[in-house]
Amino acid sequence: MKVTSVPFYRLKISKQEIDKVNETMRSGWLTTGKVTHQFESEFAEYVGAKYAVAVNSCTAALHLSLIVAGVKPGDEVITTPYTFVATTETIIQCGARVVFVDTEKDSFNIDLTQIDAAISPRTKAVVPVYIAGYPSDLKAIDGLRRKHKIRVIHDAAHALGTVSGKTMVGATPDLTCFSFYSTKNLTTGEGGMITTDSKKQMELLRVISLHGMSRDAWKRYTGAGSWKYQIRELGYKYNLSDMASSIGLVQLRNFEKMQKSRRRAAELYTKYLGDIDELVIPREPQTGKHAWHLYIVKLRKGGESKRDRVIEELKSMGVGTSVHFIPLYLHPYYKKNYSYTRRDFPNSYNHYCNAITLPLFVDITEEEIRYVADCFKRIFAHSRKR
Ligand SMILES: Cc1ncc(COP(=O)(O)O)c(C=O)c1O
Repeated sequence: MKVTSVPFYRLKISKQEIDKVNETMRSGWLTTGKVTHQFESEFAEYVGAKYAVAVNSCTAALHLSLIVAGVKPGDEVITTPYTFVATTETIIQCGARVVFVDTEKDSFNIDLTQIDAAISPRTKAVVPVYIAGYPSDLKAIDGLRRKHKIRVIHDAAHALGTVSGKTMVGATPDLTCFSFYSTKNLTTGEGGMITTDSKKQMELLRVISLHGMSRDAWKRYTGAGSWKYQIRELGYKYNLSDMASSIGLVQLRNFEKMQKSRRRAAELYTKYLGDIDELVIPREPQTGKHAWHLYIVKLRKGGESKRDRVIEELKSMGVGTSVHFIPLYLHPYYKKNYSYTRRDFPNSYNHYCNAITLPLFVDITEEEIRYVADCFKRIFAHSRKR
């Protein structure tokens, strides 16, 4: 069938996920229970972490991780402005101040070489973000952690499957937060996971993700538990249900296969877009692995209004796109509460003005990818004539 449009995202749910959800619905237990614990243990094994705690979003994962890392009012937390607001709103919710450090020139990730200069006596933590699933140097990040005695909370919302050198994101010391939002490489509709190498942290995370109730309070309606729980900490209602974990467990067991399809789609984009001079296309890392959550191209000589025009033209041809991200310091809340300007982050601003995220999902076809590439060619051929 001739392709005439490509959506930005198409969800693929197989009979296996539906069967597992049905099984859970018939089990008589819908909220956090055995399926969630199975999901946590298989997830920890997959990324090579000691422990994993499931929560109901990556935002919740970030919030809990910052609390467990001891981030408090008066502290500073270093992160990138080139991210989704969940990365910073959770820092602010802990009462801390966000300190932005620009991205690298040729990647959307934080420039690790600029972090030293941003460290102050108040720095409590750094939150690197692996945009699109592209790795940063995890060894260098661990070096910063040791050198400055700071905590690291990895925002790996895009990075399940990302490998730096030989280390998978999630397998490093400290805390890593994943997202299972609907469009992510692995989804539970809404959901998230925290991995950690510390038993103490894992136990605290479990307790505060469920109202601060004594450990294993989730069993209180089963024969294995007791009604007599205790509130030990200030807690939150951030637990993941067995219904959601049922989808996650099946997706995790099929994850390598799904990643292969995403990788193939990225390779096809590179093949069909590679000869378009007007575009800078994303690259594979020199070592490690890209998780290909997003395929972000940049206009070589663009600017915000030209980029917006290209997006409108793609839309008129039926191609769904997005922009990842509007740097946070450009949003009204951050303009009001922080005194950053675009000159402070030239790389982030340049990325933003030129970036276009293309459709990328597990069952995107070669014809669809060719259609997207043809649309770009038509747009640029037309603008060359103008
Ligand atoms: C970089 C980044 N961090 C955190 C989040 C928050 O994830 P969630 O929607 O699971 O809370 C997102 C969401 O897409 C994100 O892109």
